[in-house]
Amino acid sequence: MKNTDFIFNILGEENLESVSPPIFQTSNFRFRNFKSFRDALADEEKALIYSRGNNPTLGVLAEKLAALEGGGKALLFSSGMGAISTAILSVVKSGDHAICVEGAYSWTHTIFTKILPHYGVDSHMVPAARLIENITPLTRLVFIESPLTKTFELLDLKLIANAAHAVGAVVMIDNSYSTPLLQRPMDFGVDMVLYSATKYIGGHSDVVGGVLICGSEKYSEIFKNEYLAFGAIMSPMSAWLFLRGLRTMPIRLKQIAATTKQVIGFLESRPEVEKLLYPGSISEQQMQLFQSQMKGISGLFSVQFKNKSPEVMEAFVNNLRFFQMAVSWGGHESLVLPYALWDEQKHSGMVRFSIGFEEPETLIADLEQSLDCLSV
Ligand SMILES: Cc1ncc(COP(=O)(O)O)c(C=O)c1O
Repeated sequence: MKNTDFIFNILGEENLESVSPPIFQTSNFRFRNFKSFRDALADEEKALIYSRGNNPTLGVLAEKLAALEGGGKALLFSSGMGAISTAILSVVKSGDHAICVEGAYSWTHTIFTKILPHYGVDSHMVPAARLIENITPLTRLVFIESPLTKTFELLDLKLIANAAHAVGAVVMIDNSYSTPLLQRPMDFGVDMVLYSATKYIGGHSDVVGGVLICGSEKYSEIFKNEYLAFGAIMSPMSAWLFLRGLRTMPIRLKQIAATTKQVIGFLESRPEVEKLLYPGSISEQQMQLFQSQMKGISGLFSVQFKNKSPEVMEAFVNNLRFFQMAVSWGGHESLVLPYALWDEQKHSGMVRFSIGFEEPETLIADLEQSLDCLSV
């Protein structure tokens, strides 16, 4: 028996009935003969050749994510930014006009303000309210986040998609806050959907990854070009962890939303709070968008406290016992992020919370004791 036959026998279909999909921790795949190798190379998009292209563990995850999105095909990346940068570079070229909503994630902001101009793209950050009036006949890309993950402002997806499509531009959304369970942007005409899977898809703060979902024609184009060439691929082990995360995503989001509502309710009753920012909270028009585009909230929201003193804010976050101070969000543990870390003057008194799986009573008691410390 040849060595190759031995391996094919072990990996026969009957041995692949494990309830949890196996982790194909391999860089490459072997062929039984010259013809099957040549056939695979002729259609790399569908073949198992090299794990920078396809890998079965990633294939299972990609199919599940596309199904959740209600259509399209998914490409998987080593980080959310891997997905976002690959998507953007697959659409714009030198001389194009591209816009991104102001308040988008910081590294997306860097792509639009530093990296794209370097390659001759006329790219700009634009306030949400002025996005549509900034679409011109030269616009090729409109990049949005809705809700934005600092102010939680929502954008009208259908209106933006119609305006962008009228000039032949592509609309991309970073949908990380919502996951496909709370918002399906393609239903409103958005062309490409991006995720930091690191957040709710993984859900346990133990793996970094990204997802790009688009129509099958664009998928083929990206697969054969940017995906294989840039190589920012997800590892099989990460894909397996994201598959595990996906199984509990509906119950995690349900519990997180219920706890978040209780915590928000508590904060609303506190005299120290000036403003609470979460999807639909800002105005009646925002509430209407929330009801028409989203199925609910997740666990991320911002609080503007009345007291803007940097020392008071520092004492408040230092006093918290159950909210851990860290970047990122969407995991099992509740987090707090004081924006003054970046700019004390501009963001004084503003804090973002990410709610995890702790009991709401525990989190509320924690906030209460820290707020009480401030008033003595
Ligand atoms: C809204 C948003 N989009 C994208 C990203 C980038 O994702 P990743 O860290 O997986 O590259 C983040 C990360 O914090 C984020 O908060």
